[in-house]
Amino acid sequence: MKVLVVGSGGREHAICWKLKQSPKVTQLFCAPGNGGIAQVAQCVDIKATDVEAMVAWAKDNAMDLVVVAPDDPLALGMVDALEAAGIPAFGPRKNAAVIEASKAFSKELMKKYRIPTARYETFTDLAAAEDYIRAQGAPIVVKADGLALGKGVVVAQTVEEALEAVRAMMVDKRFGESGSKVVIEECMTGPEVTVLAFCDGTTIVPMTSSQDHKRAFDGNRGPNTGGMGAISPSPYYTPELAQRCMEEIFLPTVRAMAAEGRPFQGVLYFGLMLTPDGPKVVEYNARFGDPECQAVLSLLDSDLLDIFLACREGRLDAADIRWKPGAACCLVLASGGYPGSYGKGYPITGLDQVENATVFHADTAQKDGQIVTNGGRVLGVTAVAPTLEEAIDAAYAAANPIHFQDMTFRHDIGRV
Ligand code: AMP
Ligand code: GLY
Repeated sequence: MKVLVVGSGGREHAICWKLKQSPKVTQLFCAPGNGGIAQVAQCVDIKATDVEAMVAWAKDNAMDLVVVAPDDPLALGMVDALEAAGIPAFGPRKNAAVIEASKAFSKELMKKYRIPTARYETFTDLAAAEDYIRAQGAPIVVKADGLALGKGVVVAQTVEEALEAVRAMMVDKRFGESGSKVVIEECMTGPEVTVLAFCDGTTIVPMTSSQDHKRAFDGNRGPNTGGMGAISPSPYYTPELAQRCMEEIFLPTVRAMAAEGRPFQGVLYFGLMLTPDGPKVVEYNARFGDPECQAVLSLLDSDLLDIFLACREGRLDAADIRWKPGAACCLVLASGGYPGSYGKGYPITGLDQVENATVFHADTAQKDGQIVTNGGRVLGVTAVAPTLEEAIDAAYAAANPIHFQDMTFRHDIGRV
């Protein structure tokens, strides 16, 4: 089969790496891909958000399957457009991807179907939002409604900080139009767990659990990022909790989407907080998380293409989905300054000396025959071992020889 993966991050590299292992994949393409993805797939120079060009290319080149991995093209309806052109696509349609694209939608859905989440109110009026914050007090959480690359969330410790956040979103439009509507919610506490799940519209099969590290600096300090590292499985996620999440959160969500006429096919991301009152949803995403995907897919023992096809064809209940024993750790090597401004184009050395790990490229390019940095999150060094401790040690040891100017990373992945 000829398969095209849409996207260009560590997640897409991990998906391509895993698909490449399928005997059924005869040709693998990635658009736009990056310097590392080019080692496993043929990169096609089309922007991930260019729906028209992507559909035209997939049609001209007779793709048998297109995997749409990032949030923006899903929200733009790339899956709908591909299917309309007769090209099989993996990922939710636009009307289901809204579960991530609009926090107001997902909060409404949870309220209507009694899925546990933080109490909240939605505002389009600044004065009303300010009054609500003063009445509720701090700590309190302020979120821009639309997609803001995981950065449109402020966990405010004081009323002043919350007021400032809401003004930055609604008046200064710091997150663009996604800030015209804000969600203000109760601040929850507890460990965070990510559960990614395959869905075919009715059946849902959770993958092995994982944990992201969203803050930029050690000790969970600093600004939120796209994720600085991940481990899988999460040590907090016991079989009892998994059972409870299935009954109270996962199945109700898939049934709710189907009941709303928005059947969800693809990967559904549950960002959970294990609060003293039980597990609650922090957020949904309509796709694999990154870097979680790198750790989780490293543990998948089955053929990913077969699972994608089973999701599309509504036969997930009979799919073969097995996980390797042991644990995985993905350590992100980032450009100094990320998630703020940073330099690009720095040569990366030591990649050929990495042992006992897979290096997924998050944002690299090839320049004059050399791999160079090309973004904030640059590499995801991912190791698998019999225990979590060993996986963490292996990821750090594997990263040791890698170097580029201003390289930075967290020293406590899997330990906080
Ligand atoms: P989100 O983009 O909604 O996942 O939010 C980013 C991060 O902000 C989450 O991973 C949490 O660490 C934090 N967060 C979001 N909502 C809440 C909440 N209601 N209570 C506490 N922390 C939150
Ligand atoms: N790692 C969080 C996300 O992909 O949204």
